[in-house]
Amino acid sequence: MALTAVKGFNDILPGESGRWQHIEQTARRVFELNGFGEIRVPVLEKTELFCRSIGDTTDIVEKEMYTFVDKGENSVTLRPEGTAGVMRAFIEHKMYTQDPVAKLYYLGPMFRYERPQKGRYRQFHQIGAEITGVNDPLADAQVLNMLTSFFREIGLSEPTLQINSLGCPECRPAYRAALRSYLDERMEHLCEDCRRRFATNPLRTLDCKVPGCVAATAGAPSVLEHLCSGCDDHFASVCRYLKISSTPYSINARMVRGLDYYTRTTFEMVTGLLGSQSAVAAGGRYDGLISQLGGPAIPGIGFAMGVERIALLLNEQDFTTHPDLFIATMGEGERDTAFSLFDGLLKSGIRVEMDYEGKSLKSQMRRADKLKASYSLVIGENEVASGRATVKRMIDGRQTEAPLSVAGVQSIIRRSEG
Ligand code: HAM
Repeated sequence: MALTAVKGFNDILPGESGRWQHIEQTARRVFELNGFGEIRVPVLEKTELFCRSIGDTTDIVEKEMYTFVDKGENSVTLRPEGTAGVMRAFIEHKMYTQDPVAKLYYLGPMFRYERPQKGRYRQFHQIGAEITGVNDPLADAQVLNMLTSFFREIGLSEPTLQINSLGCPECRPAYRAALRSYLDERMEHLCEDCRRRFATNPLRTLDCKVPGCVAATAGAPSVLEHLCSGCDDHFASVCRYLKISSTPYSINARMVRGLDYYTRTTFEMVTGLLGSQSAVAAGGRYDGLISQLGGPAIPGIGFAMGVERIALLLNEQDFTTHPDLFIATMGEGERDTAFSLFDGLLKSGIRVEMDYEGKSLKSQMRRADKLKASYSLVIGENEVASGRATVKRMIDGRQTEAPLSVAGVQSIIRRSEG
């Protein structure tokens, strides 16, 4: 039996990879304009890194990590997200000694053992960005504006930005206590998972999709009403900066995140087009993470976008590249001339295809159509003898005569492009 890929791990075939390149190139352009530089970190890290950063009681660490013991008896994990590894590198290379303000972006595969469905995979890809060293809410606003610019540049008006604040170690315990006492009275309506979360991570109950839990938490106290004055001011400034930059957003006080390192601002770009996989990008502030991982007390904020989900939203658009020209030949005798022109045009940067198999003219022209070539050119005895050929524009059949040379063909294709 033929072998297949592992469940939840996908191949990205040529038609699809054009869309991916478009996403990656747009992100690089927008992020680099904002002063971010690329960092590349390993896909495999010590398991402890993710336990200490994402949190021992999160779904990711409890259920979803690809963890194994390597041949040297070390527990290692395929990264389920990018922030932990990037911050590990920031600390390990003492990047903060040069400048605590680092603006970093990364892209690549992440791994989570989740139940695969549309928009949710076991190997998926993120493009993420992180700023360290800035407490000021200006950094929050820049990150959110950059994310919004990315979606505008890529041509998606959906998804929309939702923001929240989860407070800090000073004010969150009081909120957690208020939420617990609210939930305590409604315990019998909560699902089994939420009852367990009640003790470890009660905020997660706000995120539960089970109808009983949704109903039971409908009147739960709001995190925004329990912020300390520092967190309250910070959140108000983020909102003010977003208004100054005309960045559309809405506040969602029930938004909680699946990773424990967040403090203050959290956010998601949400779509209604992908069913339950509504978050296309997500992130927030993590002011305690760097010190928690053994580094100095340096704050941070960032986000990651899900490439598969963005690609699904872009599904309607065609990003495959098509040849500029298809060269057809009447017979065997013209193939040397055709190959010489083909080779010269490729070397001059024209995307050109030709018939490799000596097929009939009709089948060659069918192939030109199938490949969606912009132009076609037929070489027969007459063309070789006269040194001139007719270049046909496929979209409307318009024909233009040109010298049968790289420069001759190039002049027609380029003229039409300009
Ligand atoms: P996250 O919310 O776990 O955050 O993931 C960010 C994004 O990755 C999601 O919004 C989604 O688009 C995509 N994603 C997550 N899991 C899957 C999956 N199984 N299949 C397909 N796409 C998925 C983080 O990972 C944080 N590190 C973000 C961050 C960066 N926070 C601060 N800096």
